[in-house]
Amino acid sequence: MNKKKFFVTTPIYYINDVPHIGHAYATFAADILARYHRQIGDEVFFLTGTDENSQKTVQAARKSGKDIVVYTEELATKWQSTWKRLGISNDDFIRTTQQRHKSLVEEIFEKIDKNGDLYKGKYEGLYCVGHEAFLKEDDLDEGLCPDHKTKPDHITEQNYFFKLSKYQKTLLEHFEKNPDFVKPRERYNEVLNFIKSGLQDISVTRETQKWGIPAPNDPTQVIYVWFDALINYISANPSKWPADLHIIGKDILRFHAVIWPAMLISAGYELPKEIFAHGFFTINGQKISKSLGNTIDPLKIADEYGVDALRYFLFKEFPFGNDGDFSFDRLKEVYNADLANGLGNLVARVAKLCETANLRFPIRPTNSKIVFDKKYQIAVENLKFQEALNLIWQKTTKADQLIDKTKPWELIKKDIHKAVLDRFEQIEPKVLFCASSYRSLWQSIHSMAQRGLQLLRLPCGTFVRCHHSSRLSPDSVLCTS
Ligand code: MSP
Repeated sequence: MNKKKFFVTTPIYYINDVPHIGHAYATFAADILARYHRQIGDEVFFLTGTDENSQKTVQAARKSGKDIVVYTEELATKWQSTWKRLGISNDDFIRTTQQRHKSLVEEIFEKIDKNGDLYKGKYEGLYCVGHEAFLKEDDLDEGLCPDHKTKPDHITEQNYFFKLSKYQKTLLEHFEKNPDFVKPRERYNEVLNFIKSGLQDISVTRETQKWGIPAPNDPTQVIYVWFDALINYISANPSKWPADLHIIGKDILRFHAVIWPAMLISAGYELPKEIFAHGFFTINGQKISKSLGNTIDPLKIADEYGVDALRYFLFKEFPFGNDGDFSFDRLKEVYNADLANGLGNLVARVAKLCETANLRFPIRPTNSKIVFDKKYQIAVENLKFQEALNLIWQKTTKADQLIDKTKPWELIKKDIHKAVLDRFEQIEPKVLFCASSYRSLWQSIHSMAQRGLQLLRLPCGTFVRCHHSSRLSPDSVLCTS
C-alpha cells in the first residue's frame, strides 16, 4: 500500500544571529507533527533551513569582522547544531546559498518572466532591513518601524516588479474554495480582507545590493530576498512538492499566503495545502527579537531543564496560534508541578512496580505503526497541541489515581501473578506519555528511578503512548508504542 505523504516546513531563518526561543517554537511544532506522522506510518519530509541572501547577513558579517562566506558557514553550522541538540528530526536542511537553491530560483524567475509577469519600473519608498520588506508611511510609528524601532531606508531604484495585482482574482477564488488554506480562522480572514482590499505589484529585485542571487535576465540586479527565500520549499527537493503544511509566524503571513501562491501560479506549480500562522512569544509584552536584543537562548533552558521540559512548556502554556508571555518563574513552576512531581512521579511509581514484578519494556521498532486515541489524533492533526497535552494529562492523572486506589504494591507482595494480571492491565494502558526521548524527559527523575528507567525504555517520539496488546504474565514483555 502506498504510504500517505506528509511534507512539513518551518520558515527558513535569517542568520544574523543564533536561534532564539521564538525560532525554536515553530521548529518544535513542525517536529511534533513530523514525529507524529512518522508514528502513524506516513512518509514524512520535514524541512528547515537558513535564509542567507539577506542584507542582515551582510550587516552581521561586517559587524563580526569576518568574511561573509566564512560568516555564513559558521552561522549555518550553528543553526544546524542547535536543532540537533534540541532533538529536531528534520529530514533536510536547506541553505539559500546552496547551488540546488540558486538554480531553481533562477529557473522560477525565468518562468515568471516568460509568463509576462515581470516588468522594469522605478521603486521609490521605504525599506526596513529588519523586515527585509518595503514599508509604507502608514506602517511607521513616529517615523520608525514599529517592530524593529529603526528608521527605514529611503530608496530610489530601478527594479523588476512582479504583477501581483494580476493574481488577485485567482487568489480570492482559491481562498473561497479552500477555507482551510490558512489557519487559524482569524488569520484566514485577515489575509482574505487584505487581498480584497486590492493587491499592488511588488518589487522583486534590488539594484543597489551585491549579496544575493543575480537576476538571470539582468545581472546588475539581485533577486529580492523574499522572492528567493520562499522558493526554498521546492528547491530542497522538488519531488516532494507541494508542501502539506507551512508553519510560520503571523508576521510573515502575507509573504506566504499572498506573494508565494501568486509566484507559484505564475510559474505553474501547485499550491501548498495549508499555511498555519502561530503567535508570538513576548517578554513583558514585548516581541522577542534579535534586533531588540531581548532574546532567550533555547539551549540554555534545555541544558538546565532538559529538551522535553522546554518542549512541554512551550506548547502547554497557550494554544498554538495565540500570543503568550514567557517567564522563567512560570517555567520553573510548571516544571516542578507537572513534570517532576506529576509525570515524573508517576513514571517512577510504575517503574518501581515493573521492577518488582520483573516486567520488561523492549524498544519497539521505530517503523511500526501506532494507533492513537481519536481525540488526541484530531487535536495533534489540527495543531491543537495544548489540547493534546491536556488529554495526555487527564490520562496521567487517572493512572495516578488508579495506582493510589488499587495499591498494586500491596498485592505484589501477596500474589504477584494476580497483581500483574489485574492491576497492570488497568493501569498501564492509561499511561499516556509525552516525550521526545526518554533520556531527556526522564532526566529530572533519573536518580530516583535509575533502575526503573532501564525497564521503562521508551522509544523516540514526541507523544508516546504506552499500551500492551496481549494478556500479561509476571515475566511477559510489555510493548511501548
Ligand atoms: N527569513 C524569514 C523567513 C523566510 S521563510 C521563506 C524570516 N526569518 S526570521 O528568522 O526573522 O523569523 C523566522 C520565524 O521566527 C518567523 O516565522 C517569525 O514569526 C518567528 N519568530 C521570530 N520571533 C518570534 C517570537 N518572538 N515568537 C514566535 N515566533 C517568532 O522571517
